[in-house]
Amino acid sequence: MQRRQLSDNITQYTIGKPLDTGAIILRSDQSADDCDRIPHFSADSDDDNNLRLSKALTDDEAIYGLGEMLGGLNKRGRKYRCYNNDDPNHTPEKQNLYGSHPFMIFDADETFGLFIDYPGEIVIDAGFDRRDTCTIELTKDVHNEVNTNIYIIEGKNKSEIIHNFLTLVGSPFMPPKWAFGYQQSRWSYPTADAVRDICRKFREYDIPCDAVYLDLDYMDDYKVFTTSHERFGDFAAFAKELLADGFHLVPIIDPGVKVEDGYAVYEEGKANNYFCKEYDYEDKKSSGDDFIAAVWPGRTAMPDFMNAQVRQWWADLYKQFCEIGVNSFWNDMNEPALFFTKRGLEDLYTTYDEVRSRTNPGLDFFDLKDKATGLSNNREDYKRFCHDCDGQTVCHDDVHNLYGFNMVRASADGLKRHSHGNRYFLLSRSSYIGSHRYGAVWTGDNQSWWEHIIVHIKMIQSMNMCGFFFVGPDIPGFGCDADAELLVRWLQVGIFTPFLRNHAALFTRSQEPWAFDDEITGIARNAIRFRYAMMPYIYSEYHNCVKFAKPFITPLSFAFSDHRCKSIEDQFMFGHSVMAAPVHSQNARGRSVTLPDCKWLAWRATDYTSREMEVFAPGTYFFDCRLDQFLLFIKEDSLFVMTSPGQNTQTRTDELTVIGLVTHSAEFTCYDDDGTTYQYEHGKYCTLRMKVTAEGSDYSVTCKYNAHDGYKNRIKRINFEIYNGKGELVRKSIKMSGDTPEAPVRR
Ligand code: NOJ
Repeated sequence: MQRRQLSDNITQYTIGKPLDTGAIILRSDQSADDCDRIPHFSADSDDDNNLRLSKALTDDEAIYGLGEMLGGLNKRGRKYRCYNNDDPNHTPEKQNLYGSHPFMIFDADETFGLFIDYPGEIVIDAGFDRRDTCTIELTKDVHNEVNTNIYIIEGKNKSEIIHNFLTLVGSPFMPPKWAFGYQQSRWSYPTADAVRDICRKFREYDIPCDAVYLDLDYMDDYKVFTTSHERFGDFAAFAKELLADGFHLVPIIDPGVKVEDGYAVYEEGKANNYFCKEYDYEDKKSSGDDFIAAVWPGRTAMPDFMNAQVRQWWADLYKQFCEIGVNSFWNDMNEPALFFTKRGLEDLYTTYDEVRSRTNPGLDFFDLKDKATGLSNNREDYKRFCHDCDGQTVCHDDVHNLYGFNMVRASADGLKRHSHGNRYFLLSRSSYIGSHRYGAVWTGDNQSWWEHIIVHIKMIQSMNMCGFFFVGPDIPGFGCDADAELLVRWLQVGIFTPFLRNHAALFTRSQEPWAFDDEITGIARNAIRFRYAMMPYIYSEYHNCVKFAKPFITPLSFAFSDHRCKSIEDQFMFGHSVMAAPVHSQNARGRSVTLPDCKWLAWRATDYTSREMEVFAPGTYFFDCRLDQFLLFIKEDSLFVMTSPGQNTQTRTDELTVIGLVTHSAEFTCYDDDGTTYQYEHGKYCTLRMKVTAEGSDYSVTCKYNAHDGYKNRIKRINFEIYNGKGELVRKSIKMSGDTPEAPVRR
């Protein structure tokens, strides 16, 4: 094993000759030295030659991280599997979902981070078999070896470890501003008129919205990079019309290419050997034939995204859409999901024949049933195709977790190159550490179950630790029928989630904000408008988090010292000033909330103009919370900034409201840029630094405006609503004349 110091707090341990997964961006020219152990772990090989790392766990040691996994925020006491999986049933016992994020923090007397950069299967037993032991097993590859890089990440505390990890793997991509707005989807809005109708309803009900998604039916026969003329007519004109009305279209693109003569994408891929090839696992050889599986379009070829030339080809396929102003997409089914293969079917038929003819007495109904239910996403199929990793034949199973990542990489490259300097938006179902640099992630096919709200709350915290700041689930659940209360409560969590999208499965009940009754529509409108009112805060905080490599969503135990925080997984910090504590149980009209370390300004909100606010000392309290209300808490000596919402993120107002509880002093820097281009990277942005200093029961305010590279200030007035330590509210207002603030006036 070789050891290399990448920075003061990151050490790389290399076993064998690992493939470059693309996960890390930090390189070092330090020379490597030989070493025989990875600190904190003992390493050995099991009987099958899989690599096993083990570590004793102290009684109260917590394990955090692992991104998109079920289970608690503290991962202790369960088994997890890093092997990307299209599993639409997120029931509690499931070990793996669509993404693999093998980054963990072990938190005991000694706290450190561990990142295992291994693209094959990893099984993590976080104290399940034995309560006092964590074992991590890396499944050997087809050559009977484990080649991997492992990183130990040090830091003063958990937040610093995450920051250091993010210097290793990079900060996430910066979406365009509209992507922070509300987004509407369903499988499917099947025609242009159905989409128009949805857009019209948003305006009619006066509910802000920035994007509408196109699921499979916009395509011609599920052929990627085509549009159905029959259902969408002149697609370019349609996209233009929607954009002019303030709605971004987000079409779906799956990896599978329909096998059909005359279909240009298939013909090109086939002619250039761009598809994955059949692989003989025993002989470790490719037959040279394209690997074909069944997915939505029927017989489907899978592009070999592990190959740079193929990525380049795929990237350019987006050009035609970018040219008509559509540069936002979602990449689905990219684990890759395989419904079945010929091999799997034949195996099933053989078993069927044997059971039917009783030629094999060892087989019965259960074998037949298992064969049938195991047809989809079958591990054997993943061993039966391979990639051309720029000259090297690699069995898919060994790099399974990189397929979605490389699809996203290719898509992002194309969208960036062909968007004429505009920011793209890209959403993916499958991911690996590193794909956060290229796009966002949604958490797949959850259900309209109350149990999945709490999954959402925990998962977004774990995903943020792994670099996926821009993440969110289908609200209010993808599968099953949602009821009105579920929609409301889930939206009230969603407004505190970076990615906010309502999406539903085929054949489920409508769940748009107006789908129930007038009262519910009103409550949903208020929640969504509140989200838009928070936009200056969200955009500023998010930008800073990306810039300074610190998560946007943070668990309480990472931010505060109060020991109770370690057990609180359903409250979280949304940016650095606000804590969300959503009601997530059916029929609940309130909940307990712990307010750690400092005083808090509690806000029981109904809409952005409501002001039911009160100052609380640290402690645990029960807060009543009707269905039309939601709870947020502003931290002592920090500021929260709002504006008036419009019909989408393009609406800009010239007035800000700053709310806070200031006992000493508090600062906030509002950041803004054009929201659409990368000009901010070249200095074209503005900042408005606000400082509030307590002076007895009053306070003073300073504002410093900085227009970088000519980017203009739009704010004309700032209204301060500041509570003092006694809980008294003092209102002041500042007018900006040009870029200069005038003296504050009491209101
Ligand atoms: C599976 C995805 O997870 C879901 O969001 C989508 O609606 C369907 N595929 C159909 O495209």
